[in-house]
Amino acid sequence: MTKLIELNNLKQECENCLKCELGKTRTNVVFSDGSPEAKILLIGEAPGADEDATGTPFVGRAGKLLSALLQDCGLDRKNDLYICNTVKCRPPENRVPTDEEKNLCEHFLIKQINTVKPKVIVLCGATSAKSFLGDKIKISQIRGQWFKILDNFDATVIFHPSYLLRNHSELEGSPRWLTKQDLLKIKDFIS
Ligand code: URA
Repeated sequence: MTKLIELNNLKQECENCLKCELGKTRTNVVFSDGSPEAKILLIGEAPGADEDATGTPFVGRAGKLLSALLQDCGLDRKNDLYICNTVKCRPPENRVPTDEEKNLCEHFLIKQINTVKPKVIVLCGATSAKSFLGDKIKISQIRGQWFKILDNFDATVIFHPSYLLRNHSELEGSPRWLTKQDLLKIKDFIS
């Protein structure tokens, strides 16, 4: 089966899922964006209001900033990345998804990763990083570091664009500047 068929089947399964409370309040399942052939698989936290309304991850203010940063670093969101989240349905009031919600949704994410088989997984923000690296991590300490996760996938951590929306500086050493350095390293790694 091609990646596309496998992922479409998985998306359909996800669209029928009502295993946790988030399924009851969602407008749309937010499954993925980008290319199944991408070498970079980026995992965010959870859909927000704009994502719930459209069914596409990272399309709101944070998503637009992410797209701009990727573009500045020579990465094309549609072709170079496959983008998804730790959970596929919007948590009410944009709260952080609970461990139970993440656990019930995890099999979708693992199947996405094992189907896309990216060269690198980008853990975007604290919720995503904690899901794979443990609850104790501090994002400011581990961003830019590289890890092996799920047996043998290379993974690295970047700041979440929502955090960057609150930190405007682009000066050397600022969170936005650091994120660009991180994205440039990721681009080098896949080239
Ligand atoms: N924030 C996320 O973590 N994911 C999205 O899809 C949108 C905003």
